[in-house]
Amino acid sequence: MYFPQYRPRRLRASETIRRMVRETTLSPDNFIYPMFVTHGKGVRKEISSMPGNYQQSIDNLVKDCEEVHGLGIPAVILFGIPEHKDELGTEAYSDQGIVQHAIKAIKNKLPDLLVITDVCMCEYTSHGHCGVIKNGHVQNDATLELLAKEALSHAKAGADMVAPSDMMDGRVGAIREALDDSGFADTPIMAYAAKYASGFYGPFREAAESTPQFGDRRSYQMDPANGREALREVELDIEEGADIVMVKPALSYLDIISRVKQEFDMPVAAYNVSGEYSMVKAAAMLGWIDGERVMMEILTSIRRAGADMILTYHAKEAAKLLNK
Ligand code: PBG
Repeated sequence: MYFPQYRPRRLRASETIRRMVRETTLSPDNFIYPMFVTHGKGVRKEISSMPGNYQQSIDNLVKDCEEVHGLGIPAVILFGIPEHKDELGTEAYSDQGIVQHAIKAIKNKLPDLLVITDVCMCEYTSHGHCGVIKNGHVQNDATLELLAKEALSHAKAGADMVAPSDMMDGRVGAIREALDDSGFADTPIMAYAAKYASGFYGPFREAAESTPQFGDRRSYQMDPANGREALREVELDIEEGADIVMVKPALSYLDIISRVKQEFDMPVAAYNVSGEYSMVKAAAMLGWIDGERVMMEILTSIRRAGADMILTYHAKEAAKLLNK
């Protein structure tokens, strides 16, 4: 059926009819809100390149979590800013670490808010890399032990889910084994499965104070030019026990989200990363785009590509609009 019999505009004539034929839904249920926790009391320091996002001490973090929960957002993901950094990132797996304390405080006040933790070394190491360094290189297998310890200490503190973001080979299997051996067989793993070496992480590194002090992350994070490799990475993580697989970043990688969704029968997460957020905020501040409209369009496009859940700094703002 072609024009003039078929007129696609008929089904676009009013908001009511558009609502009826809409293929993609967006709800606060789809969001995971990333948060940065730091030592101290009464701290709420805005991240200059990510307006509306903060480094917060636990007291303020918990208050913010109450708002998140009240908006109907089911989950947060925590990033820690340690008091001291060292070669082996010891605060990452210390039971007295900042994230471990934050998990307890949140779960104590808001047992229904799902607390996910980012499992990685880069925020905790003095060199800012995601693993152990020897002779100037990130050591894969030595790092696995530390990641397993970190994930386990998060689970012991009460984390509902752990999310390894380091991109070492074999880390999902190592973490799964460590959790299972210690009575945490029911703790799910959300794997940053296809994580690219991306310039879009720039603002996050200010937020988490995790910029590598030498070199870059290209020896462990993926080459932005590769698509087939992403499917192999996802397959490996599923084989090793991942419950949810993530593609990161989201916007320049919508094709990867779509391929992963088609290829694997698994829940798919996408990380709408810091640089993607900052670009929208900056352009909106200059009056060059309608920030709210672009935000909703971006989040919808990530869902349309196939993401079941979206980690996004827009979560609170978008939830407020959706709840109206
Ligand atoms: C830690 C980690 C990073 C992000 C999430 N976990 C930074 C990186 O890999 O350099 C980026 C998140 C964002 O940009 O919003 N490895």
